[in-house]
Amino acid sequence: MEIALGCDHGGLELKKELLPLLERAGHGIVDFGTFTEDSVDYPDFADQVCAALEENRCARGILICGTGIGMSIAANRHRHIRAALCHEAFTARMSREHNDANILCLGARVLGIAIALDIVRVWLETEFAGGRHLRRINKMG
Ligand code: RB5
Repeated sequence: MEIALGCDHGGLELKKELLPLLERAGHGIVDFGTFTEDSVDYPDFADQVCAALEENRCARGILICGTGIGMSIAANRHRHIRAALCHEAFTARMSREHNDANILCLGARVLGIAIALDIVRVWLETEFAGGRHLRRINKMG
């Protein structure tokens, strides 16, 4: 699938670590930056990734900042975005099965690399369960 990526300076190193995993799994990647260590504002990158999903250019997105909190707040301001901030594989799986999360947010200053890669792998492989969960999602518009 096509995956939109975005990070701020706090998430840059982790984003670089994710690229080989995504490529090996055969995903297309649209990387909206940032690409340097210069200090930037996370909403600018969250907005670009959300727009890529809203315009159906990408199926899902991954946003990374220092804690993941700023990215998740910014992404969830978009009406059709369900962004999940996950710290381990269980919530990553549930965010797909129950919430049909279309954006995964990660905190690069919170997670070790191995845990982050595990979260991403599980999140990408898990399908939405539908049923009663679809009814709940539809109530959010
Ligand atoms: C940047 O210093 C930091 O505030 C940002 O990466 C993120 O953690 C915000 O939520």
